[in-house]
Amino acid sequence: MTDPRAAPSSRRSAGILVTGASGAVGRAVVDALVAAGETVVAGVRDPRARLADGAKWASGTAAAARGSRPGSATTGVARPTGKPDRAPNQKPSRSPAHKPVTVPAGAAARTIGKPAAGRDEPGAASADHAGASVRGFDFADRSTWASALAGVDRVLLIRPLVVTDVGRSIIPFIDTAMESGVRHVVFVSQLSLPFDTRSPQHIVETYLKRTRAPYTVLRPNELMQVLSTVCRDDIRQRDEIVLPAGRARLALVDARDVARVAARVLTEPGHLRKTYTLSGEQAVGYQEVAALLSDELGRPITYSSPSDEEYLTLLAKQGTKPDLAAALQAVYQVVRGRGAMRPTRTIRRLTGQRPVSVRRYIEDHRDVWH
Ligand SMILES: NC(=O)c1ccc[n+]([C@@H]2O[C@H](COP(=O)([O-])OP(=O)(O)OC[C@H]3O[C@@H](n4cnc5c(N)ncnc54)[C@H](OP(=O)(O)O)[C@@H]3O)[C@@H](O)[C@H]2O)c1
Repeated sequence: MTDPRAAPSSRRSAGILVTGASGAVGRAVVDALVAAGETVVAGVRDPRARLADGAKWASGTAAAARGSRPGSATTGVARPTGKPDRAPNQKPSRSPAHKPVTVPAGAAARTIGKPAAGRDEPGAASADHAGASVRGFDFADRSTWASALAGVDRVLLIRPLVVTDVGRSIIPFIDTAMESGVRHVVFVSQLSLPFDTRSPQHIVETYLKRTRAPYTVLRPNELMQVLSTVCRDDIRQRDEIVLPAGRARLALVDARDVARVAARVLTEPGHLRKTYTLSGEQAVGYQEVAALLSDELGRPITYSSPSDEEYLTLLAKQGTKPDLAAALQAVYQVVRGRGAMRPTRTIRRLTGQRPVSVRRYIEDHRDVWH
C-alpha cells in the first residue's frame, strides 16, 4: 500500500482544509482530524455561524443535554438539520471570510473527538490539545479561496449538492489549490452518482484523474445521517420515514466512518490515485430501519416509498431547488436499481474498525427523533 510519492504525513506542520465543514461529512472529518492532532482549517461560508455551532456543540450538544448516552454526541446530533443557524435566504456575511477565527481547543474536540467509550475514534485521547481554525470559504466566491488555502497542503474536497456548475466552481478551485501548493486532494464523491456521466461527481472525478492531480476519491454509500437530517421531522412529527427507496436494501454508512477513512487517507501514505467505495457491512431495507427505530424509540415508525412524481412534489413543497431535487431523484433511482446494496469491508480494512451498524447509529442519535 505504501506509495513513495504520497507522504502527506511528512508535512505535518501544514494544515488540512476541510470544505463544507458545517455539513454532515465535513463536520465529522474536522472532528476526526482534530482528534488525530492534525492542524485543521474548517472552511465554511459563514465563520460566525460555524462558531456559534461550535459553542453549541462544546456546551454539551443537544443530545447530551437531553441525556443521551455518554460520549455519543456526534455528527448530526447537535444540529440535526445539518444546516447553519441562518435564515435560508440570508446571505453569508463576506467580511468575516478573511478573518480566520480559532475554535477553542475543546470545542471541536468535544464534538467528534469525544467518542462513545472505547469504541469510536482512534486517537481520540489526543483531542484535548487540538483545535480547528475556522475560515470563510465559498466555492462561489473566489476571493475567499486564497485565505482558506493559506498554510494548507491537503484538502478534503466536498461538493455541496447545491453546487451543480462544477466547471465554474469546484474545478477552478482544484486548479487554485494545486497552484497554491496543495499536495493531496481527497474528494468525497458519492457511490450512486459517478456512473451517471453527466453528474457533477463524475465530472470532478474525471477531472482529477485526467489531470493526474494527487487525488484520492471516497465514494460513500447513502449516509445514515439521512435519518437525522432529511427524515428527522417526518420521524419526529409523523412517525414515518418517507424516501423513494422502494424495497431496496442499502449498505448504509455513518458519516463518522467516512470521516475516519478520510482522516487516515489524509494523514498516512499509500492512498494517492485510489478510489474507495465506503459502505456498511450489512444491507438493510428502510422497512427494517423503521423497525429498528420503533424498537429504540418505543413507538411504531412506518416507512413509505413515494413515486418519483410524489417525491418531487414533496421536495418542491419543502422548497428544495429543482436541480437538487433532480439529484436526489437520481440517487434513489440508483438505490431502487440495487446500486447501493452491496456491503463492503473497505472501512474495516482502512481503519481497523468495524463500521457503525444502523442499530448503533440509531442508539447514538435517539434524541434527535423525540
Ligand atoms: N448525504 C448522503 O447520503 C451522501 C451519501 C454519499 C455521498 N455524499 C456526498 O457527501 C458530500 C457531503 O454531503 P453532506 O451530507 O455532508 O452535505 P451537507 O450536509 O449538505 O453539507 C454541505 C456543505 O456544503 C456547504 N456549502 C454549501 N454551498 C457551499 C458553497 N457555495 N461553498 C462552500 N460550501 C458550501 C454547506 O455549508 P453552509 O453551512 O454554508 O450551507 C455544508 O457545510 C456531498 O458531495 C454528497 O454528494 C452524501
